Amino acid sequence: MWTSFIGFMASGKSTLARRLQATTNRPAVFLDDVIAERAGCSIAEIFATAGEADFREQELAALRGLDPSRNLVMDTGGGIVHTTPAVELLRSRGVVIWLDASWDVIRSRLKAETPGQRPLIDILGWAGLEELFRRRRPLYAAAADFRLRSGDLDGEQLVRVSRLRSLIWERRRDGEAR
Ligand code: S3P
Repeated sequence: MWTSFIGFMASGKSTLARRLQATTNRPAVFLDDVIAERAGCSIAEIFATAGEADFREQELAALRGLDPSRNLVMDTGGGIVHTTPAVELLRSRGVVIWLDASWDVIRSRLKAETPGQRPLIDILGWAGLEELFRRRRPLYAAAADFRLRSGDLDGEQLVRVSRLRSLIWERRRDGEAR
């Protein structure tokens, strides 16, 4: 069963995936890294040369290429919710957790990063990015089994996340079996 984190860029998905990997001993998959490895170039290069629509196809293909039976923790890219089959696949493989952070937190984290790593910032600008952030929130809400507020996760909450995740998955399986 997969535990997949969704959420806007810089919401803390990869940090949380790493922490869950360390506390549960499950392997973590960073989907952007899988895409870059398959393409033989960086995400920024894919956006620059092939464009976003092509990137979304590569994202879905990378997801489809992962072993469904692995018990893994997954860090997805912030735009995965635009691809319906990708969301369906994530939901069919396990539990989907939305890591939610405010726009102010996201913006200040992104502004502190080395420029050039997140292509959408250059493509959309800050106003466009904020608009995208607002447009995506309902998509994350619809795709996720539950929402976690980013930023205030201690060790105990991580344990709770693991329990909740198992519970949701068992209930979903039970519901399907009935
Ligand atoms: C994207 C987010 C990125 C990466 C790509 C597109 C997006 O991942 O997949 O740049 O559309 O929000 P992170 O959310 O890990 O930054």
